[in-house]
Amino acid sequence: MLVITTQDGSHTLFNETLNEFYHSDKGAIQESKHVFVKDGLNYFSQSPIRIFEVGFGTGLNALLTMLEAEKQNLSIYYETIELHPLVIETIKELNYTQQLGYEFCYGPYHTLHLVRWNEEHQINKHFSFKKINSSLLTYTPQPSCFELIYFDAFSPEQQPEMWTKEVFRKMFDALVRNGILVTYCSKVSVQQAMKEAGFTIDKLPGAPGKREMLRAHKK
Ligand SMILES: C[S@@+](CC[C@H](N)C(=O)[O-])C[C@H]1O[C@@H](n2cnc3c(N)ncnc32)[C@H](O)[C@@H]1O
Repeated sequence: MLVITTQDGSHTLFNETLNEFYHSDKGAIQESKHVFVKDGLNYFSQSPIRIFEVGFGTGLNALLTMLEAEKQNLSIYYETIELHPLVIETIKELNYTQQLGYEFCYGPYHTLHLVRWNEEHQINKHFSFKKINSSLLTYTPQPSCFELIYFDAFSPEQQPEMWTKEVFRKMFDALVRNGILVTYCSKVSVQQAMKEAGFTIDKLPGAPGKREMLRAHKK
């Protein structure tokens, strides 16, 4: 797996099979903060918050969410699904805790990768964590369970099977009423699939380099 430095100085990975970056090359941390923390997590003014993430990958979204939980004194349950876990040697190459100025989180960040799959772990008093080693295409998250979904699959061009009405229907069912799903992608066919699954859609300004992103609501 190739480690690349994006324009904000933070690393991302390049998947050579899919010819796809794990994050925006304009800035990995910048994008994750914008799409998932600012327009996802910070949409809520009360905790506890239950989050389901599609694509654990480098764990950057999980790390930023854990840090935000501590900063805002939130209580978060974070469940994430990943079909192709990265090896710890790759994770150790990534500069996220250093770029964020949180070197002391180097250990906790690695802990997210090292804990056992498919069981819940209390990482600290704000952050409870479970990672599921499975494909989203065959896994059904618990219905009416989550306030927030981070939908961070590879792009619809490379993985169209992840962006279908059937997958979004599963996401819709996993949310509580008034729950939301956020994603970096704003493609018209994706909006259509979300609407057919029952979502109401807000288009929001995207992270630098992207005109728009989507926040989908279960009303
Ligand atoms: C855009 S990357 C995720 C980035 C990740 N959130 C991060 O912060 O590094 C997409 C992730 O989805 C995973 N993935 C691909 N197909 C999947 C599937 N069918 N089910 C679950 N995860 C899948 C990939 O292995 C990859 O880690």
